[in-house]
Amino acid sequence: MCGIVGYVGSREATPVLLDGLKRLEYRGYDSAGIAVVGDDGVVRVARSEGKLGNLTEKISQNPPPGRFGVGHTRWATHGRPSEENAHPHRDASGRVVVIHNGIIENFLPIKQRLQKEGVRFLSETDTEVVAQALGASQKAEPLTPFAEIVRKTVASFEGMFALVLFSADEPGVLYALKWGPPIVLGLGEGENFVASDATALLAYTRDLIFLEDGDLARVTASGVTVTGFDGAPRERPASRVPWDAVSAEKGGYPHFMAKEIAEQPTVVIETIGNKLSLETGVFNEEEMGVPRALLRGIDLVQIVACGTSWHAGLVGKFLLEQIARVRAEVDYASEFRYRSPLVDEKTLVLGISQSGETADTVAALKEARRLGARTTGLVNVPGSAIARMVDGVIATHAGPEIGVASTKAFTTQLVALALFAHYVKAARAEKEEPVDAAFLAGLARLPAALREALALEPEIEKLARRLEHARDILFLGRGAHYPIALEGALKLKEISYVHAEGYPGGEMKHGPIALIDDALPVIGLAPDDALYEKIASNLREAKARDGIVIALVSPGDADVSTFADAVITIPKIHPALQPIVSVVPLQLLAYHVARRRGCDVDQPRNLAKSVTVE
Ligand code: AGP
Repeated sequence: MCGIVGYVGSREATPVLLDGLKRLEYRGYDSAGIAVVGDDGVVRVARSEGKLGNLTEKISQNPPPGRFGVGHTRWATHGRPSEENAHPHRDASGRVVVIHNGIIENFLPIKQRLQKEGVRFLSETDTEVVAQALGASQKAEPLTPFAEIVRKTVASFEGMFALVLFSADEPGVLYALKWGPPIVLGLGEGENFVASDATALLAYTRDLIFLEDGDLARVTASGVTVTGFDGAPRERPASRVPWDAVSAEKGGYPHFMAKEIAEQPTVVIETIGNKLSLETGVFNEEEMGVPRALLRGIDLVQIVACGTSWHAGLVGKFLLEQIARVRAEVDYASEFRYRSPLVDEKTLVLGISQSGETADTVAALKEARRLGARTTGLVNVPGSAIARMVDGVIATHAGPEIGVASTKAFTTQLVALALFAHYVKAARAEKEEPVDAAFLAGLARLPAALREALALEPEIEKLARRLEHARDILFLGRGAHYPIALEGALKLKEISYVHAEGYPGGEMKHGPIALIDDALPVIGLAPDDALYEKIASNLREAKARDGIVIALVSPGDADVSTFADAVITIPKIHPALQPIVSVVPLQLLAYHVARRRGCDVDQPRNLAKSVTVE
């Protein structure tokens, strides 16, 4: 939820830290700060409330000098957004500096003990407790090496934390400690980097080390050593990620979200990759990432996810049950982890997560493992926590998704799930058959269909003008389009702040129909599929009550189009792939309504890209 970055090397640290924070600002933007140690050994700290631009402005005339420092952009957990609560935090001496992503759950008793010892706190944060605890220990044991002080102090913490810290009395040495939220090390020539995720480092290096829980890294300009919190050495080989800095930039689009919506035709093909041959219809087990043998022994696929990824899971359920004829359930990860779920060695728990770091999804998979289930992750970030903890990884290749509202990650999740459903069917068959030609043809047509959907943008922009002042909007869909109705509602509310709800069309008459009047837009997903007549009736019922009916239909529609107030004709494609195309106009609608309402499309208020705390 917060962005952390550290640098040690021969460059001036301030520009590197600010550049890294800019690329991490999507993780949280309540406040920001940096701490840099000058060649004179002085620690200079600059912090500001609000977005990173405020900090950059504040130090523009007098950037702190030095080649060693840390930076932080915050999503507040303990203590309201303010300069006092902004990181970095220091101990009483001002020489121990800490930045933090996560929550120290037992910070209060530690704070109270330190206060009894006379320590005066300047902030409301749990992070300052870390700095003050380190400083107090260092003061009590001046001859103990700081590394030892770090190990002993951190051992007393409970909760989830990614910490980057240093003592100015040990210049040029950064300590990075991971327990939950991600930490990535970047390896350079005579310089090294620390960050929450790879996007902050890609401009400098693609050689990265993804720390594991319990890792303590000691980072200097000349090298990195990794141990456990107990000091025992740990092997952490570097890997070269395929992304480059350009792919994480806006590429000329006004917003990351616009770029990422436009990238969908490309990244769905990259996600299909070599998982399945479009010529022969035969799967590549290694590329699919899940051994066929693992699939043969299961009798339930239990999907766990959050937010948009949970919507993908709902589509996945339809696909697994209809194509693979295997039982599939979907649960919010935050509910699954606490409900003593009935899973066992015959259950495959599938965690879906763009970031691979969502705390609830990570915890749900840990609970699944504890209960003896097999686990698989469907993730977009290589080396993420989920990717490293499961029995198999289904990789999407959406590339870095910077916009807080998930778009290309969602559509690549859906194409991966369509492949996975067919893969499960093939793996469990007596004799594995190639995938049917109709589906292969659908996959081949998918990029073009997505481009056709993107070409609807001018119509969608006009529609956005009619909706920008709406106070409530109802999205309706049936079958695999019910999750798309949910996703359309989530996109709209999270970036334009217009209240929206998604409902299965059949549920309308059980309550939501009471909402319908001449001020309520009803957006209905009515593709030409087996449930068309049913959703058409729902939309007719809405129209009969003066609802403003906006329908997404297939080419040649001859019913809903005759009474809807607005009609968007979307390309028709194989039923297992139709939700991927249907969601694009809804992504564009949310984007344009948000723009017209002057909202911050890429960094909507109160949100963060990756929720790495409960
Ligand atoms: C989607 O637009 C939201 N940003 C949010 O719901 C997101 O999908 C959710 O936090 C899950 O994130 P993950 O896919 O990285 O686990």
